[in-house]
Amino acid sequence: MELKQQLSEHPVRLAVVGCGEVTRNKHLPSLAEVPEAFVVAVCDLDSRVARETAAKFGIAKHCTDIGEILTMPDVEAVGICTDPESHADLAIAAMRAGKHVMVEKPLALTTGDCMRMADQAEVSGVIAMTGFHMRFHRLIRQAREHIRQGILGPIESARIVWHSPRSDVSIPGWKILRERGGGALVEIAVHHFDLLRFLLDTEFERVHAISRDGVRDDETSVFIARLADQTLVAAEFSERSPHEIEIVISGRKGLLRMNGERFDGLEIRRLGELAGAPAVRMRSVKGFFRSLPFGLTTMRRGGDYRMSYENAWRHFAECVRSGRQPESTFQDGLRSLEVVHAALQSASTSQAVEISRIEQLKAG
Ligand SMILES: NC(=O)c1ccc[n+]([C@@H]2O[C@H](COP(=O)([O-])OP(=O)(O)OC[C@H]3O[C@@H](n4cnc5c(N)ncnc54)[C@H](O)[C@@H]3O)[C@@H](O)[C@H]2O)c1
Repeated sequence: MELKQQLSEHPVRLAVVGCGEVTRNKHLPSLAEVPEAFVVAVCDLDSRVARETAAKFGIAKHCTDIGEILTMPDVEAVGICTDPESHADLAIAAMRAGKHVMVEKPLALTTGDCMRMADQAEVSGVIAMTGFHMRFHRLIRQAREHIRQGILGPIESARIVWHSPRSDVSIPGWKILRERGGGALVEIAVHHFDLLRFLLDTEFERVHAISRDGVRDDETSVFIARLADQTLVAAEFSERSPHEIEIVISGRKGLLRMNGERFDGLEIRRLGELAGAPAVRMRSVKGFFRSLPFGLTTMRRGGDYRMSYENAWRHFAECVRSGRQPESTFQDGLRSLEVVHAALQSASTSQAVEISRIEQLKAG
């Protein structure tokens, strides 16, 4: 039977552990649009949150202990969407019970935990994915294809801005402290370290970060890096400034700019073309009108950013049914965490830091 048909007849039966911000605002609304997966149960330490989340999304079962989820025979896979400190133990328990797992980023807070998780994935023989949903953003995938086709020529540099402002009101304690997974250099930057690895097929080698602490650690951080293929990177991450997701990749033959929040947010300019030239302006106006009908549909579904979560869950469901390795593995989760650790060390010592990479993980 074809994979599509298998999934339409037997959607992956899923439980989501952790009913916080990302689950209520992103995962469950996205999963409601993904027929390849069906949410059987939700779990949260806070019984009221678990109950209200289940009621809001029409989910049959809710509980406060992952142990209950793991004894449900109809649950095939578990989304671990709790605070980063708890990812490893919860994911390992789920894998021990034979459940496939999709673990939110950052995969864990220590490389040791990443290794324990990968060891368990191998022993249990389950699908183990890190939740780097931005890899599944429509424009990121298009950008990757252009880069792979060599349209930009050899890559010289990458520039990234990601601002995701966060209110101080009722913020959970873990989001205040970098040691617990909070702050722009862990929560936000980890996505971008993964994205650059994904877009450019290379690894980080040396980083230098500067951070500004406020009420919370690393409220705004800037970052420069050298990648193994000699690409130079400059990035800015903030949990205070207005929303922005922009990536610019510059090569010797052209430049690619991606804005993650606009349906017509992908622009390519060849060497010699100026941004303000009439032909370039016309091309972008034509591009806007050509993509408008599709863009309106996308916007009605929350935009490409929101839809990247849907795409990530669809991919996970396909991997569970087919047994194929996910595109974003535990190994990817570990590699980005290594860059986060180097960036944090650099921010606190004011020195550039070489990335120390541990060996290949056993699985995942
Ligand atoms: N992909 C993204 O863009 C994105 C966005 C936001 C958050 N995240 C990630 O998702 C994860 C959760 O983030 P959040 O903002 O929803 O956090 P949150 O603090 O709002 O929610 C976490 C929830 O997990 C529950 N929880 C903690 N331990 C538990 C346990 N052992 N069993 C059951 N429930 C438990 C808490 O009670 C809480 O309700 C983090 O890893 C975060 O970095 C990802």
